[in-house]
Order: sequence, then C-alpha cells, then structure tokens
Amino acid sequence: MRYVRLDTPKPISKIGLGTWQFGSREWGYGPEYERRAAEIVRRALDLGVTLFDTAELYGFGRSERILGAALGDDRGKVVVASKIFPLLPVAPVVQQRAVASAARLGVDGIDLYQVHQANPVVADTTTMRGMRSLQDVGLVGEVGVSNYGLRRWRFAEAALGRRVLSNQVRYSMIDRGPEEDLIPYAEQAGRIVIAYSPLAQGFLSGRYDATNPPAGAVRRANPYFLPENLERGTALIATLREVADAHDATPSQIALAYVLRHPNVVAIPGASGVEQMERNAAAAEIDLTDDEYAALVAAARAFRPVTGLAAVPRMVRARLGR
Ligand SMILES: NC(=O)c1ccc[n+]([C@@H]2O[C@H](COP(=O)([O-])OP(=O)(O)OC[C@H]3O[C@@H](n4cnc5c(N)ncnc54)[C@H](OP(=O)(O)O)[C@@H]3O)[C@@H](O)[C@H]2O)c1
Repeated sequence: MRYVRLDTPKPISKIGLGTWQFGSREWGYGPEYERRAAEIVRRALDLGVTLFDTAELYGFGRSERILGAALGDDRGKVVVASKIFPLLPVAPVVQQRAVASAARLGVDGIDLYQVHQANPVVADTTTMRGMRSLQDVGLVGEVGVSNYGLRRWRFAEAALGRRVLSNQVRYSMIDRGPEEDLIPYAEQAGRIVIAYSPLAQGFLSGRYDATNPPAGAVRRANPYFLPENLERGTALIATLREVADAHDATPSQIALAYVLRHPNVVAIPGASGVEQMERNAAAAEIDLTDDEYAALVAAARAFRPVTGLAAVPRMVRARLGR
C-alpha cells in the first residue's frame, strides 16, 4: 500500500474503502452482503488500507453501524471518515449529527468529518462554526467537504480558520473535471482530493456491455450504463485492457492507477466482494508509464457518452425495456 505524503495524524492510504454499498438496498447486493461487507473491511485492514469512508445518509445510518462493527478494536488505528447530509447545517445541528454518527460508528472521534454537499442556502460560515467547535472538543479530527467547487472549498477554509483537509468529488477517467482546478489546488496547498466513483460505478471494469448491464437502482439511474453508452465505451475498455495486460492487471486496476497518479489524490472504490478489495488495494502499487497515461487520456477523451437531458428519454426507454 502507498500513503499520501502529508502531515496527518494517521497515514492516509492511496486506496481507501467506500461503503455506500453497505446497508444500502439500492445497490441490489441482497441480504447476504452484510456479512461480506464485514469481510471486505477486515481484508482491507490486512492490506494496509487506512481510509474508510461512510456517511449518515448511506443506508440511513446502517453503513456507519456495519463499518464500525467490522472495524471493531481497530477503529482507533485508521482514518474513519463520515459525512453530514447538509439539510440544515447550522452549527448546533452539525454538532448533534456528529455525535449521532460517532455513536453509530462506535468511535470517540471522527477522524475526518465531511459536509456531503454544499447547501445552496445555508452559508458555510455557520456550518464551519459547528465544525470548529467539534474539533475543539476533540470529537472531530480533520474537516472535509464533498462536491464543492474550488471557490467554496476555499471559502469554507476561511470560515473554519483552519485547513479543510479534503474535498471528496466524482473523479475517474471519464469524469476528469477535478483535474482543472481542484487537484492543482490540493497539490499546491497540501490538501487531498478524495476520488469517489473512481471506477465510474463499475463502468470502467469492462464487466458490463449493452447486453449485460448491471442490476440495482443506483446504476439504473446512471446514464453511463445506457446500452448506447456501454457500446460507445468499447474502445475505451479495449485501451484499458491493453494497458492492463502489460501490467498483468485488470482494467479496474488501471482505471484506479490513472487517478492515483496525482500525489494528492486518493480513491475510495466500493467493492461487492473481498477479491475486488484485494485487487483495488493492489492497484496502488501500479506505476503507469507516460506513454500508457497518454494512451488512456486519449481514449478517455474520445469517449463521448450521452449524458444530461439527452440521456433522460433513453433512460426511461431502457427502464421500460424498449
Ligand atoms: N460524496 C459523494 O457524494 C459520493 C457519491 C458517490 C459515492 N461516494 C463514495 O465513494 C465510494 C465509491 O463510489 P461508487 O461506489 O459510487 O463507485 P465505484 O467505486 O466507482 O464503483 C464501485 C463498484 O464497482 C465494482 N467494482 C469495484 N471494484 C472492482 C474491481 N476490482 N473489479 C471489477 N469491479 C469492481 C463493484 O460493483 P459490481 O461488482 O457490482 O460491478 C462496486 O460496487 C462509495 O462507496 C461512497 O463511499 C461518495
């Protein structure tokens, strides 16, 4: 395992574990998955993973409970990251919700407490006042944000009066927006970009195609899995396979190596089984050559999926099986 080179109290592994899948029916993994989830966490610990990401929203608290129980006595050794869903993120609410999350996780302190997304109405001034008081009493270690643009991230830092260590955003080969400003800022200021959906929810694994889309509500709502987009992704997946073969690796591992190339980026892929966790952890060791990286960038740029409003009628048709 590799770790980010930053002055954090505990090392942060380049590959973390995302746990939205835990206790969340919408992934369609069934009741058996809860036991597997605990095995995934234990295996991740064995492999040197130190970053475990959850949120109060995931399974309405079930993900936090499953993660906390699976970590057991190892909770204090790793970076437990959770998120507040900012329905009314004024200071007293932030404080209450952190206490509730810590109780579900079974921890005395949340190592990284993140604002799940920017609230369009409530300013970060009051949210960060709540965060600061949580840090002052030791219930929260580092503060983070999620789905923030650069301006608002920096505003949140000014409001907190301390570093907002991380911004958790969608970042993968086919969602490269963070490369424009968030990643350069993280590198220059000593912050971290946490890449969520780094496998584009499994699209980049190459496991799915137009005749074999994934099950579950989450991915039915993701336009990348429209038959047309799976078809359009064929050349990109072929490039991933080519690079993967040279490393005796899988397309998913190469997709992770792509985002991890930036020193201040960590990725938190979810996993449906222990073997995926093992492969994802191993991806932290893969170094892409400049030529390989350039080939991946070119293939990713050439991929033109149907997204946004244009995707809506197609998704309705796919849902109706037409
Ligand atoms: N802050 C936010 O707003 C936000 C939003 C979304 C996610 N997140 C966080 O980010 C985490 C990861 O994002 P995500 O779950 O949306 O997407 P992801 O990590 O890109 O995709 C996860 C899925 O990819 C497949 N997969 C994982 N490893 C694989 C491997 N080695 N080989 C083949 N397939 C593999 C699995 O599905 P199958 O095996 O079923 O194909 C798995 O459930 C979440 O768990 C959550 O913690 C945060």
